[in-house]
Amino acid sequence: MGACVIDGKALAAKIRSEVANECEKMVASGKRRPKLCVIIAGDDPASKVYVRNKQKACGDCGIDSETIELPGTVTKEELFSLIDEKNGDGNVDGILVQLPLPRGIDEKEVILRISPDKDVDCFHPVNVGRVYTGDPLFLPCTPAGIIELLKYAGVTISGANCVVVGRSNIVGKPVSALLLAENGTVTTAHSKTRDLKKVTREADILVAAIGKPKFFNREYIKPGAAVIDVGMDRDENGKLCGDVDFDDVAGICGPITPVPGGVGPMTVAMLMKNTLKAAMIRK
Ligand code: GUN
Repeated sequence: MGACVIDGKALAAKIRSEVANECEKMVASGKRRPKLCVIIAGDDPASKVYVRNKQKACGDCGIDSETIELPGTVTKEELFSLIDEKNGDGNVDGILVQLPLPRGIDEKEVILRISPDKDVDCFHPVNVGRVYTGDPLFLPCTPAGIIELLKYAGVTISGANCVVVGRSNIVGKPVSALLLAENGTVTTAHSKTRDLKKVTREADILVAAIGKPKFFNREYIKPGAAVIDVGMDRDENGKLCGDVDFDDVAGICGPITPVPGGVGPMTVAMLMKNTLKAAMIRK
């Protein structure tokens, strides 16, 4: 046993280079490059970093990108009219509205406004439904990245006890759906789960997505379990860390993702894949 650290940065780079190859093929066949439109409202510092990473990844992949920065005072009507314009723009393949949105703007309404065939986040209920029924158009980025990381690390999902802790629409719920689609036996645990330790200690695969720094120590882990840490937290010294106490857990678990350098880069790589897919279904 002993920890094997799953290199999300390396896998993400490999996926980005595959996307770049496909983009070059499109250009060679006389088509335009895929294009992603990213909309950010307000000045949440974390969101700004995420958006910059997405822009940079587009550049690496040969995907055109356009970032539209709106003030935190933007109205729902203004945001809707921008989304409508991009929905109707034949040169835009993917539209991403960075969350969270400024207070007072209903995220659900905004997501519904994005045309499902440009919804590269896979947040629109039509696309979420298609994932659940096994007929996906896009795959949700962070969850799809997690599946890729597990496969890359040689972890068998089929038949495994998978415990997802967290039930957000962005991570917990959709990663549970994808693990189920891979024939995992899936438990979705959350803040109301009774005796969480007892539940997570049964996990062959643990996905931690609760946003609490270093919450999961070795008492939560079955020896040899694969551990996927989706947390992007700050520890008591303000240093970036995950939901898992990496140093405590690494001695007893199987493959584990680090923070940073695990799930984060994969989210962006899968967004590039979705943008390429969006361009392919448009043409
Ligand atoms: N905020 C945090 N994660 C995400 C994401 O994957 N997509 C968008 N649009 N906003 C986010």
